[in-house]
Amino acid sequence: MKHLVRYPEVRAALEPHRKAGRRIAFVPTMGNLHAGHMALVTRARELCDTVVVSIFVNPIQFDRAEDLAAYPRTLDADAGRLEAAGVDVLYVPDEAEVYPRGREQGTRVVVPGLSDILEGAHRPGHFAGVATVVCKLFNRVRPDLAVFGEKDWQQLRLIRRMVEDLDMGIEIVGLPTVREPDGLAMSSRNGAFTAEERARAPALHRALDGLRQALLAGRRDFDALETAACAALTAGGMHPEYVSVRSRGLGDPGGARDLIVLGAAWLGRTRLIDSVPLRLP
Ligand code: PAF
Repeated sequence: MKHLVRYPEVRAALEPHRKAGRRIAFVPTMGNLHAGHMALVTRARELCDTVVVSIFVNPIQFDRAEDLAAYPRTLDADAGRLEAAGVDVLYVPDEAEVYPRGREQGTRVVVPGLSDILEGAHRPGHFAGVATVVCKLFNRVRPDLAVFGEKDWQQLRLIRRMVEDLDMGIEIVGLPTVREPDGLAMSSRNGAFTAEERARAPALHRALDGLRQALLAGRRDFDALETAACAALTAGGMHPEYVSVRSRGLGDPGGARDLIVLGAAWLGRTRLIDSVPLRLP
């Protein structure tokens, strides 16, 4: 595995792969890798001949400075896992390389509509930060395909829209959420829990799954179901920000059969998000 810091080096390292007609898959990450990330890497390896992973804790997508400062950085362990998984190129740029004009002055990519609802409503500027860094990383790596987790459903939809709107010609593959045995979605943030919080954390998935079951059983009173799910989270010691039933495209559920239930809640100082898809009969 080549461990590279500068993007001209990444371009140069990938040139022979491109010339040989090898398809290049890309998995962008912020590091602190867990089984969910490794599933994305495995899928990338199944789908393409060459796999590139990036690790960059993107400062412009954090809406709280303390969250950015506390984000776990575990580069040596991450590099070991990626090497063992057969990754070809690990790209670990530093901030000055990604944002040479600083955090505020560079061009931003904004995906209208999708950036302002749900997560975007609670984390102003977050999705402009995500779209901007993913666009830059795509332009640098120039992959044929990129793999993202479905846990961040809104992020996945937003990236698909950006790729379509900007004619990037990159195939975007989404992968189902990888969960702990008790249902908790794997996340880099899970390491921050106290033992008591960890025991409470599966309540988010339970609440979303309960709502999913109610929909499958025929209920369509979305507002009442969302309110009840938030009450269940509060009873479980969490502070819910939202629970919402949407179409897969994140519009009004209306008469759609393919739906997604999304939620975000605070548990102590940690903010959790999760989502569960469902297809109505
Ligand atoms: O999902 C993440 O880890 C990040 O939002 C991403 C896509 C790597 C962009 O920084």
